[in-house]
Amino acid sequence: MHPDPHTVLPVSADWWRSAVFYQIYVRSFADGNGDGVGDLTGIRSRLSYLADLGVDALWITPFYPSPMADHGYDVADPRDVEPVFGDLAEFDALLTDAHRLGVRVTIDLVPNHSSHDHEWFQAALTAAPGSPERARYLFREGRGPDGSEPPNNWPSVFGGPAWTRVPDGQWYLHIFAPEQPDLNFANPEVVADLEETMRFWLDRGVDGFRIDVAHGMAKPEGLPDMVPMEDTGLLADHGPGDLRFDQDGVHVVHRRIRAVLDEYPGTMAVGEVWVSDDARLAQYLREDELQLAFNFKLLTADWTVSDLRDAVTDSLAAVSGSPAPACWVLSNHDRPRHVTRYGGGELGTRRAKAAALLQLALPGAAYIYNGDELGMPDVDLPDEALQDPIWERSGHTERGRDACRIPMPWSGSEPSYGFSSQADTWLPMPAGWAALTPEAQAADPASIQSLYRSALTLRASSPAFAGDGLDWVPAPDGCLAFRRPGGLVCLVNLSGAAIPLPEGQVLLASADLGDGTLPHDSAVWLQA
Ligand code: BGC
Repeated sequence: MHPDPHTVLPVSADWWRSAVFYQIYVRSFADGNGDGVGDLTGIRSRLSYLADLGVDALWITPFYPSPMADHGYDVADPRDVEPVFGDLAEFDALLTDAHRLGVRVTIDLVPNHSSHDHEWFQAALTAAPGSPERARYLFREGRGPDGSEPPNNWPSVFGGPAWTRVPDGQWYLHIFAPEQPDLNFANPEVVADLEETMRFWLDRGVDGFRIDVAHGMAKPEGLPDMVPMEDTGLLADHGPGDLRFDQDGVHVVHRRIRAVLDEYPGTMAVGEVWVSDDARLAQYLREDELQLAFNFKLLTADWTVSDLRDAVTDSLAAVSGSPAPACWVLSNHDRPRHVTRYGGGELGTRRAKAAALLQLALPGAAYIYNGDELGMPDVDLPDEALQDPIWERSGHTERGRDACRIPMPWSGSEPSYGFSSQADTWLPMPAGWAALTPEAQAADPASIQSLYRSALTLRASSPAFAGDGLDWVPAPDGCLAFRRPGGLVCLVNLSGAAIPLPEGQVLLASADLGDGTLPHDSAVWLQA
């Protein structure tokens, strides 16, 4: 028997407000059973690494039974564990161990759609049009004289139409892959089932959820055509003409989600809300809805003063009228990693170090994607290695997201660098990654991993980080600088040349300050 996970960590109503979360893409973090795919045992074996790094909480991506058409975001049973990843006992043990180390655990909730292998969808396929089984999904008659045209013009986010026809002639909606049928949130049974899933995991002791496609779920009455869009662009925000997302009815679902969370003090939810209109985004963060919503503006910003500054200003503005703090993300499993976005190679890593100090100096919560702390770049994979459904669905025109999902290197000098006991991994790992491993970086005080560790220690202990909000302060051309109420000054130098260090006691720098200057593409924290 494991100790009750609720008793280990103190209940604190708003621990998440300035928490640093660590996103674990379960397939790619650590493989405990030697099959080349990451799993719960692997995560459990690396918990002390995460505690040492100094993160407050984990977000573990879906580990539920799944045929893996979208690597777990196609959930066949939301209340069990996929055998490839482990079992419920292993999850409980992971939760207990994490709590004992003072690390909270949040997990993915995928409400918008199920897998086509879910028993509900299988029942819907064999049931008649108009049946209660079909009413849990969005089945419709087609258009055209023989119904052979999809019911509306909606495209799938992964390419092609958002509708697939079944043998009796009806069509079902899938905003993502055909293997991910959208659930019908106008059906009370669907909402009740979501609540049951939440309670199942909350009763086991999880600290909260990351809500997948949190701006999905509700669909407009009558499913009318939307403004035609050339390409959907993966998970981009397409604005008000895009009827697939951000419908007013979604807030009813969020209020139900919050009501369940409120029964479990100290638990929270963060939403993946791709909505760039500030006022509409803020609606998801009302008192009785989500506690956090990812601010994706840093994730999509270029390495320029204006982009970074706008990303920060706009993200703070977006939450300013809501009870929520901002929630910062540089990379995740859906987008190119920032080392690569910032130019790759030494320059990309140098900028990524500076970006880490920028992100971790900002007020609010922060999410680190596994491997950010190692400076992992994207990897160009050969066509035959690609696994993301986007590759097939786009007719081999979009390579998809595999490049940012390569397994983490841990030790040694050859693939799989301690990720697995075998060399072959579900996505191949490249040669030349020995220097990226924690084993190699831990002893080097100038490594990006050492920087993350120092930054997280300071962030957790220094009074300089106190207070919400920030003020922009004057900085040389090509630089940005802000001050937190507690006295922390963060200065980022994008000017292309070294600049003199301002007054103040240096707390941490992303590069060697040697001669009293801040080199290009680096950042410093000062107590001023
Ligand atoms: C996830 C993606 C996934 C999609 C469909 C997104 O929010 O982050 O990885 O493919 O939802 O579930």
